[in-house]
Amino acid sequence: MQNAIPTAAATPEGAHPFPHRHLTGIFGLQPWEITFLLDEAEQWVDLNRQSSKHDDRLAGLTQMNAFFEASTRTLLSFEIAGKRLGADVVNMHAAQSSVKKGETLIDTAVTLNAMRADVIVIRHQASGAVQLIADKVDCPVLNAGDGWHEHPTQALLDALTIRRRRGAFEKLRIAICGDILHSRVARSNILALTALGAEVHVIAPPTLMPPAIERLGVIPFTDFDAGLEGADVVMMLRLQNERMQGGFIPSPREYFALYGLTRERLDRAAPDALVMHPGPMNRGVEIASDIADDLERSAITEQVEMGVAVRMACLDILTRKQRGVEGWA
Ligand code: NCD
Repeated sequence: MQNAIPTAAATPEGAHPFPHRHLTGIFGLQPWEITFLLDEAEQWVDLNRQSSKHDDRLAGLTQMNAFFEASTRTLLSFEIAGKRLGADVVNMHAAQSSVKKGETLIDTAVTLNAMRADVIVIRHQASGAVQLIADKVDCPVLNAGDGWHEHPTQALLDALTIRRRRGAFEKLRIAICGDILHSRVARSNILALTALGAEVHVIAPPTLMPPAIERLGVIPFTDFDAGLEGADVVMMLRLQNERMQGGFIPSPREYFALYGLTRERLDRAAPDALVMHPGPMNRGVEIASDIADDLERSAITEQVEMGVAVRMACLDILTRKQRGVEGWA
């Protein structure tokens, strides 16, 4: 167990470890609340490595996963997480739902609520859609990614992966590289990793760098090699083509030449630097295949494993109030 790692983020005396009804983003979370979620996730990493993976503390509760955008890892891991905790899990795919018939988001939310969901997980292409639903329903809502805004459970699983491999965040230099502008993964990771005390470099072409990003406490670089210098963790991002209108990059080939992670580039980072990617990867665009598949360096499959544990922790914690858990009701 690694959850005894000392961090600067222990819950202060008398503070509630997680006083929030929903998880719509990392924004607004205190460092010790993030640490609490990571600590809680550790027990589920252990359980998920056993042959019997059940802890049925959510038995009797209904978990609805409403996904308005494509997903493999996030949807599957929320479904597995709910099932391992004993909840009745149902998935709503927008492509096969009444959304296609013109139903508004609020009407969909009211419908899920009327079926007495006990926890709702939402992915939506519009930034702010998850908050809109959270304001309309009677149960906790978890953000599984909303537009360019936030993807909090991705940032938590990334932080858990980093903490298990590298320990305390305070001494780490973490480089986040690629389409920072359109990436909810980048935004949630910047908020989480700076809160936990890491030095965060963001690296992107000028067209994909959000203006005034340094106000979030990060150091921006448009030169990939300079930004990678001495990095302990290199987190690569996919170009979010579905969120781009117009030409943000000259061509995928030129993008790879300037911003793709190759073995030579990785040599600029710390000698044992960890390579991460939230998936789905576009091999040969943002990352070379030999790096992605290098088990010595790449933590990409471990990120997926941590995703289930983190989502179990979030589902457990957010439903404690309705389950009447002592100290939460
Ligand atoms: C990310 C997402 O959907 O934001 N994927 C994920 O959840 N693992 C990143 C991406 O789509 O590029």
